[in-house]
Amino acid sequence: MESEIFEVLIGEEEIASRISELADIIDDDYMGEEIIVVPVLKGGMLLASSLMLEIKKSPIIIDYVDVSSYGDKTESSGDIKPNKWLVNSVTGKNVLIVDDIIDSGRTLNYVKNRIASENPKSVKICTLLDKPSRRDHKINICSDYNGFNIEDVFVAGYGLDYKQHERNRPYIVKVKRHQ
Ligand code: IMP
Ligand code: MG
Repeated sequence: MESEIFEVLIGEEEIASRISELADIIDDDYMGEEIIVVPVLKGGMLLASSLMLEIKKSPIIIDYVDVSSYGDKTESSGDIKPNKWLVNSVTGKNVLIVDDIIDSGRTLNYVKNRIASENPKSVKICTLLDKPSRRDHKINICSDYNGFNIEDVFVAGYGLDYKQHERNRPYIVKVKRHQ
């Protein structure tokens, strides 16, 4: 039977202070302009909530998209399925897409391109984690506001799931699997 060990990789305080730094940078960049914050469900929910509580200068509208790429597997299939799409029009608006992690980049590439096709004023990406070594090099995408770069390890917590669990841990763990 498979069992797993969860080892803390990034602690709660480190995450909170990095999110607060990102919010300050975002406040400086948008200079009080309205932002439509778009969490990518379900992984982006936790970062989006914490980040929005720290953004002080820009008025915020919340929308969301829900896309699946992984299912319960730990490898991206590359097939992105939109389950839910934006409620509001983003034409002429500043859109900030928020997700837990940029891995191969396929999910955020799909979301960004589809939002860009609606002619927003700007579209940027905020992620808690980036695994640069995993990027699909056919895709030219990066996170504009990233919390932490990590190595190619499977992680969970702060929105990221392991078999649909562990999303609500307020810190990031490395998942080590044993047979
Ligand atoms: P991408 O399309 O390969 O960039 O994958 C993005 C999605 O894969 C993320 O939004 C996560 O849902 C999931 N993902 C990627 N790496 C991990 C991980 O280490 N743990 C949990 N989920 C992950
Ligand atoms: Mg996700």
